[in-house]
Amino acid sequence: MHILLIGNGGREHALAWKLAQSTKVSKITAAPGNIGMSQEPKVSVEPIAVTDFTALSDFALANAVALTIVGPEVPLVQGLADHFDKLGLKVLGPKAAAAQLEGSKAYAKEFMQRHGIPTATSAIFTDKNKALAYLNEKGAPIVIKADGLAAGKGVVVAQTLDEAKQAVNAMLDEALFGEAGATVVIEEFMQGEEASFIALVDGVHCLPFATSQDHKARNEGDTGPNTGGMGAYSPAPVVTDAVQKHIMTDIVEPTVSGLIKDGTPFVGFLYVGLMIDKNNQARVVEYNVRLGDPETQPLLMRLDSDLLDLCEAAVNGTLANTEAQWKTDSAIGIVLAGGDYPAKGSNGEAITGIEQAEKTACKIFHAGTAMKADTLVTQGGRVLCVTALGSDISNAKDIADAAADIVDFNNKHYRKDIGYRAVNRLDQDQV
Ligand code: AMP
Ligand code: GLY
Repeated sequence: MHILLIGNGGREHALAWKLAQSTKVSKITAAPGNIGMSQEPKVSVEPIAVTDFTALSDFALANAVALTIVGPEVPLVQGLADHFDKLGLKVLGPKAAAAQLEGSKAYAKEFMQRHGIPTATSAIFTDKNKALAYLNEKGAPIVIKADGLAAGKGVVVAQTLDEAKQAVNAMLDEALFGEAGATVVIEEFMQGEEASFIALVDGVHCLPFATSQDHKARNEGDTGPNTGGMGAYSPAPVVTDAVQKHIMTDIVEPTVSGLIKDGTPFVGFLYVGLMIDKNNQARVVEYNVRLGDPETQPLLMRLDSDLLDLCEAAVNGTLANTEAQWKTDSAIGIVLAGGDYPAKGSNGEAITGIEQAEKTACKIFHAGTAMKADTLVTQGGRVLCVTALGSDISNAKDIADAAADIVDFNNKHYRKDIGYRAVNRLDQDQV
């Protein structure tokens, strides 16, 4: 089977690596792909942009592509799945109407209200003065979100009223996020521990993936600006069996049935960002309509099942009869970023040590890399994700930390505390 995989980040490298292990997959074309993907067996790359729908479908039709798997949200929100579906091409990813769950935070909030899904109380504004009046009424801490896609940067968790007002002014007055910030959602600050919950959905049924957590803040101790994610691990100990049951019953299943009721059934990976409070009650922070990056990297290292079988079951509507097997081991992914990320990417810095690092039990997924002459160099904010499997989270972390130290480039930045919550819980359990 020939698979077309859309995207070029660490998440897509991990998808390509895992799909290539399927005996049913003969060839994977990644569009546009990245250097790391092009080095995997069975994988070649085509320089087609993720939003060039005509070029992508022309390629799929001309090359007998059996299934297209979409990594990032932008083409989904713009209707790539609708375009492929009209041409009779099989595609894994929601249509534009369902992808609004990620494409518009205001839409997502109204959806949750409509279907009784637990989330922070909120209000939606396009008028600056009304937004400022609401802030005065609610006080801080409070959270301001640009409505549209902003690559993880359109959220301000304001600790003071001043910060909150600045964020509202930046979005509604100074158009800092352009169209994406012309509408803002202002919501209650939720206390608790975050977790990422990902389920594969076939329109009706959902197959929960293993649990995971990521670290969105740039710096150690979860401080500094929000990023796309600085590291992730699986499993997430905060999601106990009882919490998972609650998440499925009260959040994931009502989301999937709400989408059906609204006439926008969802096929693809549904990612629910959750805040879990001290009473183990989960509320939705955000929806994503695709796999998480970097959650996918550790998750797929733990997956024992054939990923293609799962993807096909989702597209064919047979997930009810499908199970996924996961290793009991823990996995962790540590992102190596350019020192100025998220403000600015790294460019043209030579990368060393990958081969040596991969001699240990770890796999290095590429995100922002390029070849300059014969040298692998940086090209982007998040450059690599060093991912390791271990007997427990502490063991996995030790392996990944050592590899993250070996791989090097000028002005490398990474967090040495990825997974600290899970490690602390493990230490407590062992006392
Ligand atoms: P989002 O893009 O909506 O996931 O927001 C990015 C990050 O901001 C989340 O991962 C949280 O760490 C934080 N955040 C967003 N909304 C809230 C909230 N209502 N309460 C507390 N933290 C939040
Ligand atoms: N790691 C968070 C995300 O993929 O949005």
